Amino acid sequence: MFFANYCQLVEKMTQWNYAYHVLDQPIIADADYDAAFFELHSIEIAHPEWILPQSPSQRVGAIASSSFEKITHDIKMLSLSNAFSISETWDFFVKAAKELECDVETIPIFSEPKLDGLAISLRYEKGILRYGATRGDGEIGEDVTHTIKTIASIPLKLFTSNPPEILEVRGEVFMSKAVFEQINTQALQENGRQFVNPRNAAAGTIRQLNPKIAAERALHFIPYGMGDYSGEEIFTAHSQILTYFSALGFQVNIHACAFYAREGAFEADYQRMAALRESMSMEIDGIVYKIDHLALQKQLGFIARSPKWAVARKFPAQIVKTTLLDVIFQVGRTGVLTPVAKLKPVFVGGVTVSNATLHNMDEIERLGLCIGDEVEIHRAGDVIPKVVSVVAHGENRQFIHMPTHCPICQSRVNRIDNQAAYRCTGGLICGAQLAERIKYYASRDCMNIKQLGRVLIETLCEQGVLNSVADIYRLTIDDIANLEGQGEKNAMKILAAIEASKKTKFNVFLTALGIPEVGEEGAKNLARYFKNLAALRTAEYETLLQVPDVGAITASNVQAFFSQQENNQLIDELLAAGLHWDEADFEPRYTPLSGQIWVLTGTLQLPRKEVKETLEKLGAKVSGSVSAKTTSVLAGESAGSKLTQAQTLGVDIITESQFLNLMQTFDINL
Ligand code: IVH
Repeated sequence: MFFANYCQLVEKMTQWNYAYHVLDQPIIADADYDAAFFELHSIEIAHPEWILPQSPSQRVGAIASSSFEKITHDIKMLSLSNAFSISETWDFFVKAAKELECDVETIPIFSEPKLDGLAISLRYEKGILRYGATRGDGEIGEDVTHTIKTIASIPLKLFTSNPPEILEVRGEVFMSKAVFEQINTQALQENGRQFVNPRNAAAGTIRQLNPKIAAERALHFIPYGMGDYSGEEIFTAHSQILTYFSALGFQVNIHACAFYAREGAFEADYQRMAALRESMSMEIDGIVYKIDHLALQKQLGFIARSPKWAVARKFPAQIVKTTLLDVIFQVGRTGVLTPVAKLKPVFVGGVTVSNATLHNMDEIERLGLCIGDEVEIHRAGDVIPKVVSVVAHGENRQFIHMPTHCPICQSRVNRIDNQAAYRCTGGLICGAQLAERIKYYASRDCMNIKQLGRVLIETLCEQGVLNSVADIYRLTIDDIANLEGQGEKNAMKILAAIEASKKTKFNVFLTALGIPEVGEEGAKNLARYFKNLAALRTAEYETLLQVPDVGAITASNVQAFFSQQENNQLIDELLAAGLHWDEADFEPRYTPLSGQIWVLTGTLQLPRKEVKETLEKLGAKVSGSVSAKTTSVLAGESAGSKLTQAQTLGVDIITESQFLNLMQTFDINL
């Protein structure tokens, strides 16, 4: 292995990373990236002196100390003044034109979405990322390089052979709506607390001490301006600077556009962006209009902390006040009762809202909420509206109680031990649970019977045709063909899809059973561990705890599920209906070493059996003899002929401590 090969590998991986995270056009499979990452790591362990600052391995570093270093921005980081209407936007540029002594309609405008994240300045020296800093008060910010480096769309080295001595790229770090939803759901389950919006979540993530957590949250960065710059003054327009950033490896906003200042053009642009807003993957809270010509920008300068050449046209507030009319309780698939606020209809963020989620009884208590109260509703993008606070108490306010009996099936409602949730004890006799459970069973992540849609399931449950999950396999053409809008042809298609779903995988079947707390990943772990259903059905609590990522709650849920007669009956009925899977065919686990052949030799400190099992778990084969096909040889003390053979063949040889380091990169501590 030569240094040049190592550099080539870093370069190749940087291009893959760029294709995936900036262009959104992956060019290799995840497994190949993982394999390359492994190779990179092996080389860097053997040659720590080679490590390049732009190596992908340098993105997730050590945990930061408890306080962040202060960083002074030589060129201040500014803020923007706001406009809340077309006329305010128009007036802003009319005023600018007056100062420039020109006709407003000759001013070139550049329009960009106003990303709702936090401002960050990235300093590159000779093309290498030196640090990333928060805005702070505009003059002094904080050094957050450790989390900034985890952002895959930020190049660690600029894509140019001729970088300026100094370049500061300024822009917004933000979290996608999808990641926000995901971490908030997780946070709610884990500690009952949530981030208010993606901006707070992004800011919290950037100030995380542990870069690993930041990496998992997959933040993004989009540049919107330049700070310090020592290169040639070749730019005449802001849009050229963005093009330059794009060439340097940054992602630029695809929704930006340019036009000349006209009142109608601002109106049209606002409508354009408002229409795009819902479908954007990130949250935006307005549009930034900038005068594109740098000469005009320079002429206008600043007032207080904001430029006189740019303005933020804000979207109307998405927080509104209304009255809480009632609270109803919805019964979900696992019987959990969720309180839902019934509101006096109110227009917010482009839609009329009359329902909002209240999560659970603890949330109601935390808000101090009663029926009749005036409340504040928050709606962020397409997120389900939320009651955020009580503004005023209603006159005849009524306390909200969890019903003692299920509103659907009248069975008793019990509080789930140590949780804020309550559950209907009716099981599958509860109509709500039945329909939800069947929908879940047929859903994409489970048995994936696309043709059996949600509305059809509800109708079939209401008509008493579907009384259990197993009834799906008893459906006849007549059951479906006679329903409104169906017909025989459709019915046949649906039945064919149901028939096809009988061939499945063990882990998919487990997910579809809907055991509380056992989702896709949990089901995979159980399938991997037990390999067959019989073993899982009779598993002891202690055995279940041995399964990776299975804790006390999941273990007792699994055991409780398989100890209930109706669940066992359901499983037997499903198997009798013809559901089957190949026991050897379940979702592969994370196998970064697949395709590799390893040889162990010499005296190892670690138990050989454990080393072998670990390597196999990661997908490698462990062989007894060295050949040209061998990927790596793990050589312990007094290794003999196999080591010599490996040296002769030029096979990668690693020591036990290098091996341990490598395992740590996979979160395995031997
Ligand atoms: S330009 C001198 N462009 O909005 C101009 N800012 O309210 C500096 N922001 O601190 C900002 N998207 O964090 C600009 N396309 C965009 C933006 C943007 C979001 C944020 C930025 C700034 C804040 C001002």
